[in-house]
Amino acid sequence: MNSGVKTLGQFIIEKQADFPYAKGELSRLLRDIAIAAKIVNREVNKAGLVDILGDLGTTNIQGEGQKKLDVYANEQFISALSSGGECCIVASEENDDIIYIDSAVSHNAKYIVCIDPLDGSSNIDCNVAVGTIFSIYRRKSTNGRAALEDVLQKGTEQVAAGYVIYGSSTMLVYTTGKGVNGFTLDPSIGEFCLSHPELKIPEDGTIYSINEGNYVHFPEGVKKYIKHCQVEDAGTRRPYTSRYIGSMVADIHRNLIKGGIYIYPTTAASPGGKLRLLYECNPMAFIVEQAGGKASDGSSRILDIDPVTLHQRCPIFIGSARMVRQAEAFMQGNA
Ligand code: AHG
Ligand code: MN
Ligand code: MN
Ligand code: MN
Repeated sequence: MNSGVKTLGQFIIEKQADFPYAKGELSRLLRDIAIAAKIVNREVNKAGLVDILGDLGTTNIQGEGQKKLDVYANEQFISALSSGGECCIVASEENDDIIYIDSAVSHNAKYIVCIDPLDGSSNIDCNVAVGTIFSIYRRKSTNGRAALEDVLQKGTEQVAAGYVIYGSSTMLVYTTGKGVNGFTLDPSIGEFCLSHPELKIPEDGTIYSINEGNYVHFPEGVKKYIKHCQVEDAGTRRPYTSRYIGSMVADIHRNLIKGGIYIYPTTAASPGGKLRLLYECNPMAFIVEQAGGKASDGSSRILDIDPVTLHQRCPIFIGSARMVRQAEAFMQGNA
């Protein structure tokens, strides 16, 4: 390998020393996820040429029509996690219930993976960036089969989380609780290579990302915060720029690099928020916090929410710490 290039595999092995208790299982799990991501990337890249665009004609537990790529990506990640042997349960946006992995190889597997296999489904058919989000927990129960209770852990219990963005280039960004690192897929060698070491989100930013089409259905605090973003004030570099892709991964990735806030509040259509706690909000909150940012449901830290159900949703305000604090102040009527 060319000196100066560090592959994800090399990086993971080096970082294993950060976990004295680790026996390499987490490293293998991350490796399995990266392999599935490359397979999904291959299909996303040639999507217009093969019969993988469009609707499948089925509906998931979220009440959303499934795209062919939603289901393809789901199958790839479940298959990689099943054969890898380190994962005992997968919880996915696309499956009604948790999936037990009972193969002999995963008999003593300690890890639980929550996954949004394809994030930004509405962008699949028009060649706009989509993603994958994953979150990893260690099972709590010590004997018998792992169970739903092992999945319903607070975000603070995550041992790793990451996302893949299939964009103008493909990147994998992840944390194990010791900062955030980003890897770009070099298609010529088929490897994710370290490109964004120790990612830090700017403390403040000038981008706000929210689906403003839902404005009339937003809570008062969100309406007032949006107006605040649009008011001219040279001291705070307002008016801010509005950017909304409609793929949470891509919107948050951009804000992580440039500084900004992403909001998906409660709306009339989604009174509990739209985004799912276990496989969207928690992993992105863990990553953004590890990069120095903040993630809130409007009043409390996302990672402190005690999940009650598998597909639980929550409102989210996530990004540059100063912007999230300001949005929270509006939500609480203190601004
Ligand atoms: P998914 O494609 O995994 O169902 O997630 C869609 C999510 C998220 O990616 C995006 O930010 C948001 O839904 C967009 O929702 P709106 O179209 O309501 O703005
Ligand atoms: Mn969906
Ligand atoms: Mn999603
Ligand atoms: Mn999805």
